[in-house]
Amino acid sequence: MARTGKVSTERLTMELSGKVAVVTGSSSGIGLELCILLCSKGAKVYGLSRRESSIGHAGFLWLKTDVTQPLDIDRSFDTIFSRHEHVDLLVNNAGFGVFGDVESIHPETRQRLIATNLTAPFLCTRKVVPGMKRQQSGTIVNISSIAGKRGFKGGSAYCASKFGVNGFSEALMEDLREFGIRVCSVNPGSTDTEFFDLAGIEPKKLMKTEELARFVLSLIELPDTMLPDQIQVRPL
Ligand SMILES: NC(=O)c1ccc[n+]([C@@H]2O[C@H](COP(=O)([O-])OP(=O)(O)OC[C@H]3O[C@@H](n4cnc5c(N)ncnc54)[C@H](OP(=O)(O)O)[C@@H]3O)[C@@H](O)[C@H]2O)c1
Repeated sequence: MARTGKVSTERLTMELSGKVAVVTGSSSGIGLELCILLCSKGAKVYGLSRRESSIGHAGFLWLKTDVTQPLDIDRSFDTIFSRHEHVDLLVNNAGFGVFGDVESIHPETRQRLIATNLTAPFLCTRKVVPGMKRQQSGTIVNISSIAGKRGFKGGSAYCASKFGVNGFSEALMEDLREFGIRVCSVNPGSTDTEFFDLAGIEPKKLMKTEELARFVLSLIELPDTMLPDQIQVRPL
């Protein structure tokens, strides 16, 4: 349609005020910053992590959850659904990295990595999709990684988990698009969080955590007629 020159009154961003959001991995890094931003937008935010997420905001509730434990996930979503009929936004963010030669990565560590980075997004997504389908709306953001797009030296476990997240996300996007549900996979490069304390590698350049969280928020806030299905972002 041609532009008329009139000032448009159409909403250009998705309204987050009053929306119900669930963020996994809310105790530090990207997840913590995103919870703070979502609260500032008036969303009702539930943070799932093992350590307490200390956000002094009335709109935030921390639910102690180890996402490698399906019963923990069940319990947390039972609490959420005892308060709300559906979830509007799920951010599958909880994750960690281990790097090293394949023979140095213990099979149990690799199993925990897959459970956290890949299986937990599947389990959490299963919880929110029925309500989103009823509503014919919703947004699911999967925090993957550049390591989910290309293999890195030492990344035989981590890259496999994040390639898996991107495959999961792409297929889910195709499944849910017809229901008005947006699925978006964000592939960040190195970001200044506790991730590197555990991972044991030193990145050359880093994005600031808050800036990355703002970037994720800007995708979430796109009009709900737009589907940014997969996006990479790196430090300049
Ligand atoms: N930082 C980077 O450079 C970078 C780049 C690309 C992608 N990513 C991805 O971004 C996501 C967030 O990482 P981050 O950089 O913000 O690192 P971070 O500061 O270490 O945060 C990781 C979060 O995941 C949670 N988590 C880990 N294992 C968990 C479990 N079993 N159950 C529940 N929560 C768990 C942690 O909470 P608890 O320890 O309290 O449970 C923490 O809140 C991850 O998926 C990571 O792979 C990070």
